[in-house]
Amino acid sequence: MGRDKVFVTRELPPVALGRLAEHCDVEVWDEFLPPAYELILGKVSGLAGLLCLLTDRIDARLMDAAPEIKVISNLAVGYDNIDIPAASQRGIPIGNTPGVLNETTADFAFALLMATARRIPEARQYIHDGKWLTWHPTVLSGQDVFGATLGIIGCGRIGAAVMRRAQGFGMRILVNSLESADEIRELGGEKAALGELLSQSDFVSLHVPLTEETHHLISEPELKQMKPTSILINTARGSVVDPQALYTALREGEILAAGLDVTQPEPIALDDPLLTLDNCLIVPHIASASVATRAKMAEMAVDNVIAGLQGQPLPTCVNPEIYQRD
Ligand code: DGY
Repeated sequence: MGRDKVFVTRELPPVALGRLAEHCDVEVWDEFLPPAYELILGKVSGLAGLLCLLTDRIDARLMDAAPEIKVISNLAVGYDNIDIPAASQRGIPIGNTPGVLNETTADFAFALLMATARRIPEARQYIHDGKWLTWHPTVLSGQDVFGATLGIIGCGRIGAAVMRRAQGFGMRILVNSLESADEIRELGGEKAALGELLSQSDFVSLHVPLTEETHHLISEPELKQMKPTSILINTARGSVVDPQALYTALREGEILAAGLDVTQPEPIALDDPLLTLDNCLIVPHIASASVATRAKMAEMAVDNVIAGLQGQPLPTCVNPEIYQRD
């Protein structure tokens, strides 16, 4: 019997790829841009494993074209790019990379919060535009972070890591999430209804997965409930926020600013109106992008593939119910 074949949809750190290659024949898509859906579809028929990214759509059609597939491993904690019910129906384990990116992502959410509150990108541009002519009492004044109220929507691992940082800044922390009031209190926050959180927070930071329920969770009515001095931070998924509603809210001064690591769609089009706004800081989905964290994510994704090829339960599996079957 030949070695298992695995397709990896992007170049990974060599150490992780080298380890994978000890267990199977590895083909790596080494271009900068992702492989097209049709290309992956054309490759999967003889594959035992697929290591994919959040940019790859993995649906039922693709799974049906891969009768020998034993494992699909996503190099991300989020897995909204994969049809999980379809995978579970077919008994295909799906791996993800939770845990290792919590602190790195929380650092970045806080970096966006600080940068938008204190208008750092605008201040940099101000110098480059030759506008720094003198010290001035009101120029580029921003919002205080210390002692402000932070609203956290979704208090999983990353939301909780953001809360720890907020405590260091003496912030009052309101939390809207599935956890109980007691659990949230133990983490240092107060459980709040969504409307209460939106109307009282100076900063609102999103940490929910993208699901049917959270799609456009922040839309016109929610933005209208926020304070005109408040700032929205999104390091979750772009589609949690309605981009048209956000544009209107930022342009009309319904909220003060936004810091977005994620957009709908990704990448954002260069003619997207959000890019015309000085009060909207947008960066290209890099919240987990530290060298160390991305290397750990690659190791976890490889561990999931190896386990799947060996018929073992994946160390981090998003549909473990498939192992409960007879
Ligand atoms: C994830 O892992 O889901 C992030 O969005 C990328 O690190």
